Amino acid sequence: MKKMIASAVIIGLFSPMIVCAADVAAAAYDVHISYDVHIRSLAASCAACHGTQGNAVSINNNNDSTPALAGVSKTDIISKLQAFKSGERSATVMHRHAKGLTADEITALAEYFSKQVPHSPISLKPQKLRADHAN
Ligand code: HEC
Repeated sequence: MKKMIASAVIIGLFSPMIVCAADVAAAAYDVHISYDVHIRSLAASCAACHGTQGNAVSINNNNDSTPALAGVSKTDIISKLQAFKSGERSATVMHRHAKGLTADEITALAEYFSKQVPHSPISLKPQKLRADHAN
């Protein structure tokens, strides 16, 4: 009985250290993997306005649509996002987005978008509905 109690005490004392070591190892691994995923998730949130992988679609070619980010230079994107963040550049929405980003996230997002290949937007021709279409 004494042996069992002693074993339980020893396991009880050392198990937090074992768990702790495992957590540290797992955390180091996760940080590396998940930061990339984190940046890609942030970049995906930009797609709603800036298009898939930064390829915004201009509807009327009047240059009044949301700017494309694909292939824009990294330094250009960084300076624009920092200007939005500091309030130096006024904006309709981007000052809000940029304020939520850290300097590291801005750099990583700029890196991501600068590496995307710019594509010319393709607009589909309007289709006429056919009244006689058999569903
Ligand atoms: C709700 C729509 C929306 C979302 C989401 C959005 N943007 Fe923007 N972005 C805009 C608009 C609109 C502008 C033009 C400035 C303004 O009026 O805010 C802009 C401008 C920019 C510019 C400056 C482009 C230029 O050529 O001047 C950059 C860089 C930028 N956005 C990056 C991002 C990044 C990175 C994200 C994701 C973290 C993002 N945006 C998310 C709408 C959006």
